[in-house]
Amino acid sequence: MSSSAAFIVGNWKLNGTGQGLGQIRSIAEGVQDAPSVRVAICPPATLLSRAAQVIQGSKLSLGGQDCHPEINGAFTGDISAEMLADAGAQVVILGHSERRAAYGETNTLVASKVSAALRAGLEPIICVGESLTQRRSGEALRVVVGQVVGSLPSEAAHHRFAVAYEPVWAIGTGLTPTLNEIEEVHLAIRSALKDIFGPAGLRPPILYGGSVKPDNAAEILKGQEVGGALVGGASLKAEDFLAIVGAV
Ligand code: 13P
Repeated sequence: MSSSAAFIVGNWKLNGTGQGLGQIRSIAEGVQDAPSVRVAICPPATLLSRAAQVIQGSKLSLGGQDCHPEINGAFTGDISAEMLADAGAQVVILGHSERRAAYGETNTLVASKVSAALRAGLEPIICVGESLTQRRSGEALRVVVGQVVGSLPSEAAHHRFAVAYEPVWAIGTGLTPTLNEIEEVHLAIRSALKDIFGPAGLRPPILYGGSVKPDNAAEILKGQEVGGALVGGASLKAEDFLAIVGAV
């Protein structure tokens, strides 16, 4: 773990209707007694304003899962960072590997979305991670550091943001890297952040994501430069997600 408060973020992906608000309420109630942890849930954008009402006054934050670089315009189906903020979001996940793979999002596009998030006062969580083929061919560090360098605009130095290391092959598979492998990548990301931003590169938390569960969270969160977790499947049920928060 790093020295500042751990940051635990739930990514609901394409899951959740109004029925899920009860889980968000339970998470908000459960995190009230966790002073050394920052916690956010990123439900589908359609739930943000209702979730904001449900958790009013709690220390749980809300986030989006993507945003468009522009504030508004002829971009059917898209949502801007300002719209997410207006709906109650404080954070936004950007450059998730599912978006990089399914929608061809490049580092350049992700960097423009990060700029948009900062413009709107949101804290971006920038996702990076190698594929299994890249890991097997010894390219994991090169790929991940390249994504970090390419996806971060220079103005990020003056804002709050987080990086999430999510190896593509660990997402939704039940597979996780060893703690040594996680630490190796997190240390490489920290070193890249210091190269880009100087001393400001020491600040952003580096989260781990990919099959984080209640039974492996404590071990993963012990890792050097592991500043928190980005949790998919296990964030859908308040009981599981709160167990992960409790592992900090
Ligand atoms: P899982 O926790 O379901 O593996 O998903 C991780 C993830 O993609 C979070 O963004």
